[in-house]
Amino acid sequence: MKKVTAPAVTALKSERKITMVTAYDYPSGLIADAAGVDMILVGDSLGMVVLGYEDTLSVTMDDMVHHAAAVSRGAKNPLIVADLPFMSYHESISQAVANAGRFLKETGARAVKLEGGTLYAEHVRAIVNSGIPVQGHIGLTPQHIARFGGFKAQGKTAEAAKGLMDDALALQDAGCFSIVLEAVPAEVAKIISERLSIPTIGIGAGPDTDGQVLVYHDILGLFDRFVPMFVKKYAELRSASVEAISKYRDEVISGTFPERGHSSHMKDEELEAFVSMLN
Ligand code: KIV
Repeated sequence: MKKVTAPAVTALKSERKITMVTAYDYPSGLIADAAGVDMILVGDSLGMVVLGYEDTLSVTMDDMVHHAAAVSRGAKNPLIVADLPFMSYHESISQAVANAGRFLKETGARAVKLEGGTLYAEHVRAIVNSGIPVQGHIGLTPQHIARFGGFKAQGKTAEAAKGLMDDALALQDAGCFSIVLEAVPAEVAKIISERLSIPTIGIGAGPDTDGQVLVYHDILGLFDRFVPMFVKKYAELRSASVEAISKYRDEVISGTFPERGHSSHMKDEELEAFVSMLN
């Protein structure tokens, strides 16, 4: 598979559905790459599924850089998109450009994602003008849960849907190469996807977006503290992991692990010589 670029992702809109999954470290980067996805999102969801926070608000730029660099060491072909965390672009356009630049300079990410529509269009334009592809993210934007009053679906009234369309068009005009639509009605996602020339990547936005993204731990059934309605589990690795580690624990206690083949062994004469040295 060829290395995927942001322009290549944009071009896929007219060809086929686009695939994206989150990853947060070297092994998940390796696995996502081996699965052949187009894009990997190093999402700030790492705050919840990897770092154990209640939400994404505490995630820092340093956290994101650390994890994005690890993912890049594992994933060679997919486009790696790094998420700008809460308060890493909100203060000013120059802050947004500097932090987006950190991802390209210090990790192997070749695009960034930021949450927000029209309000952040000028931030997006400045980042794109500095040579960094930007993925927009509208609808349920988890960095705004304090304002939304929780993880709530967005765009359910005609007025709210019109707001989303305006946001999507503003982000497209500012130069985004694609836009994530999270937790918006399928009908609204379909109309926005038809209206835009850049691809939409849906999560909880129905089947008619140009691509889909899901969280790694959700797909694999590794995280059950909070499972949104839009998640489809393709495996149950949490229960399989608990079962494997309990079995290991039981075998250590019973003495069935380790077996003879799990360590190296001395030749008899060396062993005898060693024991005699001790006497
Ligand atoms: O941080 C994240 O994982 C995301 C996806 C849910 C789109 O933003």
